[in-house]
Amino acid sequence: MATTISILSLLLLVVTSTIPNSEAQQEYVNNKQLDCDNVYNSTKGNICNSIPSCTSYLTFKSTSPEYNTPSSISYLLNSTPSLIATANNITDVQPIAAATTVTVPVNCSCSGPYYQHNTSYTLKTPGETYFTVANNTYQALTTCQALIAQNRYGERDLTAGLNVHVPLRCACPTQKQRDAGFKYLLTYLVSRGESASSIAEIFGVDEQSVLDANELSSDSVIFYFTPLLVPLKTEPPVNIQRAASPPENSPPPPPVTPAGNGDSGSSKKWVIVGVVVGVVVLVIVALALFFLCFYRRRREQSFSPAKPASASTITEGTNKVSDTTPTTQSWSISSEGIRYAIESLTVYKFEDLQNATGFFSEDNRIKGSVYRASLKGDFAAVKVLKGDVSSEINILKRINHTNIIRLSGFCVHKGDTYLVYEFAENDSLDDWLHTEKKYKNSMALSWMQRVQIAHDVADALNYLHNYASPPHIHKNLKSGNVLLDGNFRAKVSNFGLARVVEDKGDGGFQLTRHVVGTQGYMPPEYIENGLITPKMDVFAFGVVILELLSGQEAISGDKNGSGEQMLSAIVSEVLEGENVREKLRGFMDPTLRDEYPLDLAYSMAEIAKRCVARDVNSRPNISEVFMTLSKIQSSTLDWDPSDELERSRSVSQISATR
Ligand SMILES: *[C@@H]1O[C@H](CO)[C@@H](O)[C@H](O)[C@H]1NC(C)=O
Ligand SMILES: *[C@@H]1O[C@H](CO)[C@@H](O)[C@H](O)[C@H]1NC(C)=O
Ligand SMILES: *[C@@H]1O[C@H](CO)[C@@H](O)[C@H](O)[C@H]1NC(C)=O
Ligand SMILES: *[C@@H]1O[C@H](CO)[C@@H](O)[C@H](O)[C@H]1NC(C)=O
Ligand SMILES: *[C@@H]1O[C@H](CO)[C@@H](O)[C@H](O)[C@H]1NC(C)=O
Repeated sequence: MATTISILSLLLLVVTSTIPNSEAQQEYVNNKQLDCDNVYNSTKGNICNSIPSCTSYLTFKSTSPEYNTPSSISYLLNSTPSLIATANNITDVQPIAAATTVTVPVNCSCSGPYYQHNTSYTLKTPGETYFTVANNTYQALTTCQALIAQNRYGERDLTAGLNVHVPLRCACPTQKQRDAGFKYLLTYLVSRGESASSIAEIFGVDEQSVLDANELSSDSVIFYFTPLLVPLKTEPPVNIQRAASPPENSPPPPPVTPAGNGDSGSSKKWVIVGVVVGVVVLVIVALALFFLCFYRRRREQSFSPAKPASASTITEGTNKVSDTTPTTQSWSISSEGIRYAIESLTVYKFEDLQNATGFFSEDNRIKGSVYRASLKGDFAAVKVLKGDVSSEINILKRINHTNIIRLSGFCVHKGDTYLVYEFAENDSLDDWLHTEKKYKNSMALSWMQRVQIAHDVADALNYLHNYASPPHIHKNLKSGNVLLDGNFRAKVSNFGLARVVEDKGDGGFQLTRHVVGTQGYMPPEYIENGLITPKMDVFAFGVVILELLSGQEAISGDKNGSGEQMLSAIVSEVLEGENVREKLRGFMDPTLRDEYPLDLAYSMAEIAKRCVARDVNSRPNISEVFMTLSKIQSSTLDWDPSDELERSRSVSQISATR
């Protein structure tokens, strides 16, 4: 007992003397990133100091053929192609020669106690582990320990198609570094044969400042395939790749033991301290082994219950949301709803897109700047956009849902971005619903199809608001952005205005002065105050349901005169007062020719009316809307058109029970 106490106090002594204060420089990972089963302070991340966020730089060695353009690298590291191009004095279309060191500007910020830059990665092959993702794909810009700590999947749960959160290591300068004139910290990947002094030389900084930044001393060993921080007074030079091509003579990484290695102190007077440290480390190892099983057990428990974003809204019977892992079927997300991509985005060559679209010929134009393309025998839609659209790419690369149009790849050429989407054979919903366009399709959508479409769109929005990570608001939902595939299943498209739900707390939502959108679909609080909440999608969706029911446009009548009427306003007149049944029949799309169950049409009109409520707080959440539509859909499946007369009598009863 006494020995334990003395060892513990010794340990305390050693630990307190090495605690970094908040203004300390960062600790070098020292090859500990190879030892994924143990967590070391240096592998969790760089410790935050007084600056909460800053611009920072990462280096990445281009790989062929995957990550060898500014767009593909920015896609992997969540940066911006134009910024990478500028930082390296290249154009954003130019492929970069393999194994060239590229500097990548990123925003670095504190997340808990550590500095990091977030990105995400979809596993591609079954053999990938947290270690290969950290070391091989991300080139030691993250560690397996940080990946394990920030993902809820255990090592054994990793399968191809799974999307993992990747915290990249970065740091902001400390007060001491700022006082010395340093403005940025660059995270450099150490290659074979490099030393602190050769790296300092590449960047034109003094060796001591590099050593200090990493808490190293001049006789410390640095290992290749580890990240090293380099403090910079100016932006990094544009062509660092040419500076580094040294011979292969640096030490290979030695095997790692939990006792650690690479201790910098080597002079004799430290021998005693070394012995003490050795004893302490042994004790730590023993304790670690002892606690390992407890820790493991606890961690396994904490993996299973995943967070449902707003579970409180779904409490129907026994069908409660308990898990959002992709393999689990839960009632709130239709089982086919989530479909993780096996492949991640393809970066296309411009010539291939030219050939696939017949040089963007008029014949292949679907509408606006969207073209039909034939890629390896499959149809795809190619949308041409001006400038940088990395935000849309970044949203869609994370999202995978059957009812959201899938982005399969992209291409950047001469400042334009070409987004390649899955192809929707039947164009958009508004082509099918509205009279002027209807002639194009001699066929009208049936009741069954309309209910399915509404259900699909609700499924997509429910996913977007509650299950996507991070949750998003579409902001531009309308029948023109609902595409229909060969089986008339809906796919929500056009994420150009979408944004992350920034505050899910009580009322603290974003405001904007820049109100953009489509007349008839924008809710009053957005038009009047620029308030952005998920309820703006609910409003727009209510309008889409009304279009499905009535076949009318969101705004009808005289567009510039006084006769203009919003569908969202008409519905209250229909559902209030006397003769609801007659008024509803009159409201319904004549092309349905009375082949619909009036009671279900009534339920659908009711939920749509609640969606388009003026008051944002009286609108239901999308999860509630989705649940109601699921019920309507299952009743529609039971519905026999010949029973129609009988069923329609129950409308008044429904309204009485509500
Ligand atoms: C490791 O980090 C923890 C919390 O940040 C700190 O309390 C501890 O002293 C650190 N240990 C060392 C050896 O720096
Ligand atoms: C950038 O590249 C251009 C053309 O390749 C070259 O003329 C120019 O000197 C380069 N700029 C720098 C700062 O290296
Ligand atoms: C960092 O964030 C700012 C503001 O959000 C943005 O303008 C800038 O482009 C970002 N930088 C990078 C490298 O993404
Ligand atoms: C990065 O990810 C972490 C963990 O998911 C999160 O807490 C943090 O807010 C994210 N940071 C930014 C800037 O998005
Ligand atoms: C880390 O990744 C590099 C580059 O892919 C590879 O050469 C090296 O062998 C990897 N290290 C280990 C320990 O697998």
